[in-house]
Amino acid sequence: MRKIVIAGNWKMYKTQTESLEFLQGFMSHLEETPDEREVVLAAPFTALSIMSKNLHGSRVQLGAQNIHWEEMGAYTGEIAGPMLTEIGVRFVIVGHSERRQYFGETDETVNLRLKAAQRYGLTPILCVGETKQQRDAGETESLISTQLKKGLVDVDQENLVIAYEPIWAIGTGDTCESKEANRVIGLIRTQLINPNVSIQYGGSVKPNNIDEIMAQPEIDGALVGGASLEAASFARIVNFQKG
Ligand code: PGA
Repeated sequence: MRKIVIAGNWKMYKTQTESLEFLQGFMSHLEETPDEREVVLAAPFTALSIMSKNLHGSRVQLGAQNIHWEEMGAYTGEIAGPMLTEIGVRFVIVGHSERRQYFGETDETVNLRLKAAQRYGLTPILCVGETKQQRDAGETESLISTQLKKGLVDVDQENLVIAYEPIWAIGTGDTCESKEANRVIGLIRTQLINPNVSIQYGGSVKPNNIDEIMAQPEIDGALVGGASLEAASFARIVNFQKG
């Protein structure tokens, strides 16, 4: 059975105080959320600890936005698996396009981070997706295929979520047509060994398009940036309506 996973990616937003304010507004909305939906908040490292305390016993699972492949060491600015698991983190976003674009992340380092996440019992959310240029050049399929092939070497597909995030749709308000997202996600699925991997769509997911996105048969959830920063907005996304 493919799980439905709705994850908020807060990126470099929210102090501890702001994170707690968010939770105050958000948690009561979860009473209407169907049990089978997994809800994840990927907060900045500095907010994880206090959020973990406040989410204890709730259905919201905590996510991080990066993980290094070593257990410890001289890697200034990085974060290690045991530091995340100790405070109750369960998910980690790996290979987000912003990491690839601005911080030199490659398919090889993505692969190392994925394997590290699994070694520490975390569920990685692997992000793949093409730029506008690559799409216009007809390279979407081959690019994603390479990202999967290189990224997933020796990765256990029993403990994995994938997010299809066309880069041109991230933070632009320019959502990928839900049918097209469905098509690409279907193609991603054909490349996997485990047919039950949950595959999310990400890129300008909003309260007003989530129902249509989730009505697509191949789409198992969403990775949400901007619209996850506001409690009512993310609550509406988590509580998407089935058509
Ligand atoms: P967005 O970001 O929802 O703001 O487009 C999505 C993401 O980067 O994961």
